[in-house]
Amino acid sequence: MPIKPLRKAVFPVGGLGTRFLPATKALPKEMLPVVDRPLIQYAVDEALEAGIEQMIFVTGRGKSAIEDHFDIAYELETTMAARGKSLEILDATRLKPGAVAYVRQQEPMGLGHAVWCARDIVGDEPFAVLLADDFMLGAPGCLKQMVKAYNQTGGNMICAMEVAEEATDKYGIITPGARDGALTEVKGLVEKPKRGTSPSNLAVIGRYILQPEVMRVLEGQEAGAGGEIQLTDAMARMIGSQPFHGLTFDGVRYDCGDKAGFIQANIAVALTRDDIGPAVREFVAGRC
Ligand code: G1P
Repeated sequence: MPIKPLRKAVFPVGGLGTRFLPATKALPKEMLPVVDRPLIQYAVDEALEAGIEQMIFVTGRGKSAIEDHFDIAYELETTMAARGKSLEILDATRLKPGAVAYVRQQEPMGLGHAVWCARDIVGDEPFAVLLADDFMLGAPGCLKQMVKAYNQTGGNMICAMEVAEEATDKYGIITPGARDGALTEVKGLVEKPKRGTSPSNLAVIGRYILQPEVMRVLEGQEAGAGGEIQLTDAMARMIGSQPFHGLTFDGVRYDCGDKAGFIQANIAVALTRDDIGPAVREFVAGRC
């Protein structure tokens, strides 16, 4: 079967962000900045780098700042232009007209449900899913690495990463099959297995390339771990009928859904910057 090219990406951004309260009471967690760009901007940039043409955001109430971020801000831009300031800094926020779609998830019923809410916009083609709080630093970016592998294997592909044994209950976990370099065959998947029952310590990280059939599986999907409709459960049901691989990403992942991970991401990015790197390095070195 020919491998269908990947053109669309789904960004589930409807989550409540309770782990960052009170910061996220009125601010979407995806708008939290790593240095000076919101998390969602990094995820969109990663998708663009991987050749994605259409961005589909699955939003919820209180998330309109994300729509505004990817829109033209007339007042700001007119004022900046009148003051002779360059608008280049805003370039990344301008998505091609028509290449962005928003669909609302009325209730936070889980990642699987969020993805399913995008079914009509995704249509009958493969699509990527990017979770913005999995902050991936690498060159090329994580999704681009996955697309390269997907163009060989087709089917479904997830980003895979080994995690500490005691952290396996926080992730989707892979039952690994044959390994070939960075690729691991996925034989089974389980969402947040209870301590001591995990099939391995190879976890699913928030980057996916999925075939559209997963939408039909999600259609009849029952609630799973945590009472939520889990994407992992739907993916597990596709194993065997389509190729399924995990790709170990060559780069570093920061869990920006976690406060320590978020601070680490900020420090890591700050240290790479010419403008603030030296000052941050001096500050950190003086405290270690
Ligand atoms: C989600 C997925 C899980 C995956 C994780 C990666 O969980 O359900 O399978 O391992 O993202 O970050 P969440 O972190 O939303 O609980």
